[in-house]
Amino acid sequence: MHQQQNHPDGKRPKVTPPLPTGPYATVVIDPPWPMTKIRRKARPNQQGFDYATLSVADIAALPVSRLLDKDGFAFLWTTQKYLPKALEIIEGWDLTHRFTMVWHKPGGIQIYNYPQFNAEFIVVGTKGNPKFLDTKKFNTAFHAPRAGHSVKPKEFYELLTRICPPPRVDLFSRRAIPGFDTWGDQAPGTGAPPTIAPVAQQRLLP
Ligand SMILES: C[S@@+](CC[C@H](N)C(=O)[O-])C[C@H]1O[C@@H](n2cnc3c(N)ncnc32)[C@H](O)[C@@H]1O
Repeated sequence: MHQQQNHPDGKRPKVTPPLPTGPYATVVIDPPWPMTKIRRKARPNQQGFDYATLSVADIAALPVSRLLDKDGFAFLWTTQKYLPKALEIIEGWDLTHRFTMVWHKPGGIQIYNYPQFNAEFIVVGTKGNPKFLDTKKFNTAFHAPRAGHSVKPKEFYELLTRICPPPRVDLFSRRAIPGFDTWGDQAPGTGAPPTIAPVAQQRLLP
């Protein structure tokens, strides 16, 4: 478990820090889904900002249910490609799929004979019978700007801080997030170099 599949920058530790013990009422998981590197002129900056990835089997083996309290929420980030797997994984974690959220983001990649991919998804599962703290202005779809390569929007975390009970943890984190514990091989305190590409360098499609 947690063996990285690749180490693109060659600098980061090969052993990831131990998972927190919890229990948490709210767990966000933004896993490094397997990626095919795009090696073409349109994304010249992508390579330098890669991170290690995990297999779908390793993601499915994360002990999310154990991290959750008797009643808890899990929010699993996924791309269009891994949406079917993410739904399976939520059920495999012994959670109940409640709904799926959509982040509508500006721009996105478009390949031949496909639409522009300008959304990411958050599959929401529950353990037990957790209750939201507030459901006002809580929509399944939201628009928020991009902040950098694969960075999830602060608006999402601000929403969860209002609607979901603490304690909360952000797994595969890369920055300090108010109201959340963080864990990941690039999480604050690991000493890992930042891999977040400034948004201006991403050369997004309009
Ligand atoms: C999709 S990114 C997370 C992005 C982050 N949520 C953000 O908003 O910036 C996935 C992260 O998982 C980390 N990671 C890869 N393999 C890991 C492992 N085996 N254990 C812990 N973290 C890992 C990567 O280095 C990367 O920081």
